[in-house]
Amino acid sequence: QMDLPLEGKKVLITAGPTREQVDPVRYFTNYSSGKMGYAIARAAAGMGASVTLVSGPTALEKPAGVMFIPVESTDEMFHAVMKEYPEMDLVIKSAAVADYTPRIKYGEKVKKKNESWSVEMEKTTDILSVLGEKKERQVLVGFAAETGNLEGYALDKLKRKNLDMIVANNVAQEGAGFSVDTNRVVIYKKDGSAKEYPLLSKDKVAQEVLAQAMELMPL
Ligand code: PMT
Repeated sequence: QMDLPLEGKKVLITAGPTREQVDPVRYFTNYSSGKMGYAIARAAAGMGASVTLVSGPTALEKPAGVMFIPVESTDEMFHAVMKEYPEMDLVIKSAAVADYTPRIKYGEKVKKKNESWSVEMEKTTDILSVLGEKKERQVLVGFAAETGNLEGYALDKLKRKNLDMIVANNVAQEGAGFSVDTNRVVIYKKDGSAKEYPLLSKDKVAQEVLAQAMELMPL
């Protein structure tokens, strides 16, 4: 259909940061607001898709008409995403997932006693890599948040994680990346094509991301 190009498609979006607890009152996280992912979820729902949004903690209103799965840690996001994955036609991973989590999660508040406190961190599961390994018919789209060498790092992630498309943003650029309402992206596809966009609202970026992903989907 002309105005509902994603009708009948199941789309999974991840958004927001993850939160890695070290004790009941403290955690590690990042600056993701969820705006980019929520914009994609709204746009996909507007195109007629059946949308599942797996979201880390954000201050945003949950978009209307989407199935909403709130999570906190990378581990929770991983399990939620894996459960939904087999059903999906398109998966877009815009969440800013923590790469490391405290090795020890204390059950009680750690008391202030020493002059310094070192927290040992261990790697989290790379959710996107696992999705890439288990990919069947799904179109898989990743994001790359970089502060330099955008093309090199993005193309490396595209290949290494077995993606169909990657949306790269230089988060050190003014008006791009974390928290702001705008973004500036380059979209790389596995066929080697690259498309660079000017500074746009995250709503407009979301439309472009979905339009490009749709070109990779079977009718
Ligand atoms: O939420 P906003 O404030 O609107 O900000 C938007 C954004 C900057 C968060 C977004 O545009 C963005 O770039 N998201 C990806 C952030 C990120 O984690 O990038 P990365 O280059 O570290 O990771 C690459 C890809 O692997 C991402 O798709 C990420 O979701 C995924 N990943 C990373 C680590 C991990 N353990 N599991 C993953 O799935």
